[in-house]
Amino acid sequence: MAVMLKSLQEISRLRQAGRIVAETYEALRPYVVPGMNTVELDKIAEDFIRSKGATPVYKGYGARPARSGYPAIPAFPATICVAINDVICHGFPGAQQYLQEGDIIGIDVGVRYNGWVGDSCVTFAVGEVDSEACALLDAAKRCMELGIEQARSGNRLGDIGAAIQMYAESHGFSTVRELCGHGVGRSIHEDPTYSHVGPAKIGLKLRPGMVFTVEPMLNAGKPDIRVHADQWTVSTADGSRSAQFEHTIAITDGEPEILTQL
Ligand code: MF3
Ligand code: CO
Repeated sequence: MAVMLKSLQEISRLRQAGRIVAETYEALRPYVVPGMNTVELDKIAEDFIRSKGATPVYKGYGARPARSGYPAIPAFPATICVAINDVICHGFPGAQQYLQEGDIIGIDVGVRYNGWVGDSCVTFAVGEVDSEACALLDAAKRCMELGIEQARSGNRLGDIGAAIQMYAESHGFSTVRELCGHGVGRSIHEDPTYSHVGPAKIGLKLRPGMVFTVEPMLNAGKPDIRVHADQWTVSTADGSRSAQFEHTIAITDGEPEILTQL
């Protein structure tokens, strides 16, 4: 598959989808508190998205039959992906899962509006969190911002990963390798796919009209991952906590445009 460059009109459609993603976080934010149930959060997100005439992208996505050596993967069952503490990403909301004071929770939201997709992730602190969690959240957000700063015409995908990896490791955190940034368009996952680590100056050269995510995941401990038996939930292999921030961005002639913010 090739990287599809988006026209200005297509980017304006992607902007509308991205705006609904950003608004969904504003709808969720007051409910990200101790005692809240994650299936309830999922319902708030789904109701909000549908009230805007959009649809959740993840719900029903990604089913695959078993193939030699690999188990079947069920469709993702929910509107939001939930990642509490040592979960890195792609966790399911759970009827028995309640937020507790001191947790960190990553909430990933994807919507489709008029055929175009927006994809974002925010990690929230639940009530008061300890100093390591604060530092991890700050660093993960900063890594996303530094990655986005590198997303300029003429730079390469490796420049994004290098900026992220450098900042994460210099703050005592590690960067997940296996889960990647990806192109976004009519589909949630398009080319290019790239890892949030360096080296700089390698990889695809960025050009105006490219639209993709910057979505670093930082672990407090080692970078290694573990995939759960549900085939979706990814957590840290060492049980350390993990935090993620993600925006969908467009490459322009100048500053990158963040499509999933208000
Ligand atoms: N932002 C995540 C990703 O790009 C969310 C995907 S959830 C899935 O992988 F259900 F679409 F897989
Ligand atoms: Co994504």
